[in-house]
Amino acid sequence: MKETKDNTVKTKERCSGHHHWSMAPSLFGLLLGLTFGGIESVQLADSPQPYEGGSCSGDGDKNCNAQDNKVAINHDSSGISGDGKQKWNWDPSTTHRCNIRRISRLELLTSFGNAGLPCLYPYPLVIYRGNENSGFANLTTVDNLPLNFPPDFHVTLSGSDSLSSHRRTIPLTQYLNEILTANDGSGETLPNQLGNETWYLFGETFSDEWATFLQSYELPPCQSCTPLHRLQNKIALSFGIGNTGSGVQWHLHGPGFSETIHGRKHWVLYPPADRPEYDLDYASRHWMENTYPALEDRTAEDLKNEKWGHDVFLRRWKNNMTYGSTMQESRSSVPEGESLPSSKKPWECTISRGEMIYFPDRWHHATINLEKYTVFVSSFTTEYE
Ligand SMILES: *[C@@H]1O[C@H](CO)[C@@H](O)[C@H](O)[C@H]1NC(C)=O
Ligand SMILES: *[C@@H]1O[C@H](CO)[C@@H](O)[C@H](O)[C@H]1NC(C)=O
Ligand SMILES: *[C@@H]1O[C@H](CO)[C@@H](O)[C@H](O)[C@H]1NC(C)=O
Repeated sequence: MKETKDNTVKTKERCSGHHHWSMAPSLFGLLLGLTFGGIESVQLADSPQPYEGGSCSGDGDKNCNAQDNKVAINHDSSGISGDGKQKWNWDPSTTHRCNIRRISRLELLTSFGNAGLPCLYPYPLVIYRGNENSGFANLTTVDNLPLNFPPDFHVTLSGSDSLSSHRRTIPLTQYLNEILTANDGSGETLPNQLGNETWYLFGETFSDEWATFLQSYELPPCQSCTPLHRLQNKIALSFGIGNTGSGVQWHLHGPGFSETIHGRKHWVLYPPADRPEYDLDYASRHWMENTYPALEDRTAEDLKNEKWGHDVFLRRWKNNMTYGSTMQESRSSVPEGESLPSSKKPWECTISRGEMIYFPDRWHHATINLEKYTVFVSSFTTEYE
């Protein structure tokens, strides 16, 4: 991919003023893949040093050493392992590859200044070694969480399919009990469960009680994540809890962050023009189980382009030029329906406790929680002028 001429040179004054569209209120209403026809003309890839990457243990290590970049494919035709348990192609309990750029909080602030990540950063990024929310983690342990709310506090659950159109309201304590004891006590969501029947707490935490509670959450290091943005409701926080294997099927929306507070959460992403093919009836684990293993690996060229993209962004940013042009590139649409499903594996990384991912504007993504009690907070930002 070639850098195109920068016709629009803007200053760093971004993240302020009006915005074109704010995704938060309509998080679910939009079946975004269908709603937004805009497709970018450049391949935005991802990952700088995935090569050192592999899976990450959550100790905040850049190199996150577990060099387990292979996906275990189950060739045993019985599908049953020695201990009598069903074996899966993609086992949530193991470690998984990471090909997304990982950067420490300190490195991020050193590169971009104390205001944090600039608006509309064009690639996914994993930010590690932040300790800002250790107090919040304390408030949200399985024992402490209900104590933050009135007795018999109810939560609204969504289906795990792309549309998340179904709802169910039950007491918080009942939800915790259900997810921790699901599937004969394993606390697991299986790949073959229908998405619309797999209940999940996420994205429906905009009530006053939740808003008050989420004041205790420290916002990500980002230029559109200031206390003023919070005060002006330009950032929408969503709290979620899921068990092993739970998560949401592919969808897309505006940019933001998601921090893992407890457990581990695996993210898979494709740039806007590089769409995934998936079954609307199922949740994300079904895709990991059935589609992911057969997809091609990213090539060295993909990884190089992605690294190049990060470097170009930083250079433009340092010269007070924005990625405005990058965004124009990315918004120049290809007629809907003309893109083919990607034959390659997604960009992906496991986000461990205390780490967060930045998901760029309109990137397709799906998530799979890897532990029985996985807690996360997503911050949906307002990044257009
Ligand atoms: C965590 O909560 C306990 C009480 O549940 C408290 O004693 C402790 O100081 C808290 N730790 C942090 C880091 O907030
Ligand atoms: C979930 O979706 C399946 C397949 O589309 C359908 O047969 C089933 O009735 C749906 N379940 C609910 C609760 O809507
Ligand atoms: C970028 O803009 C800032 C203020 O808007 C100015 O102080 C700085 O010199 C500019 N840097 C470059 C490289 O143009």
